[in-house]
Amino acid sequence: MKRRDLILFLIIPSIAILSSCQHKPAAAPANPLLNAYDVEQSSTDPQRLIPLNYQQAQGKRVFNNNCVWCHADSTPAGPSNRSNLTPTPPLFTDGETFNSLSDDLMRNTITLGGSAMGKSAIMPPWGQTLTPDEIRAVLAYARAVAQPPYKASARPASQ
Ligand code: HEC
Repeated sequence: MKRRDLILFLIIPSIAILSSCQHKPAAAPANPLLNAYDVEQSSTDPQRLIPLNYQQAQGKRVFNNNCVWCHADSTPAGPSNRSNLTPTPPLFTDGETFNSLSDDLMRNTITLGGSAMGKSAIMPPWGQTLTPDEIRAVLAYARAVAQPPYKASARPASQ
């Protein structure tokens, strides 16, 4: 065996062995914000960003197009109308109000409007304006941004 061959014969396997011994870096913890379609600042902790999935992000769009004027204190276009209304509409982040309401009840109020549900007629019916998917999406958005956080009930909602 030539000297060069001998060196290769010794070096190549040792490189292979050494490199296979290297520690693999521990997988970085998954950052839920990286997979989010959109984020929402927490209403109680501005440092915290809430990741929104696709449906919730669609719901945010529905909300900003239709509901923000009454259910938030400020809108992308400036102050809202909320403080002028009696009864004052709940903020959309108001988990105290919404968390105890079932998905069915929330969807019915949104679809049929306040007066059909024995609530204020100032809450308009959206069943002719929004599709059932848009109504489900805006509800998913409300659940995502609720403070205190919404915990889904174990009982599945009927369709
Ligand atoms: C013109 C103002 C106005 C707009 C726009 C509006 N709401 Fe409302 N909403 C109200 C008022 C006022 C109430 C409170 C009714 C009550 O408590 O009697 C209400 C109540 C609700 C409730 C029920 C709360 C409960 O206690 O049962 C839901 C859910 C809701 N709104 C969702 C929406 C969604 C979703 C949109 C947009 C698609 C929307 N609202 C747009 C005024 C509005």
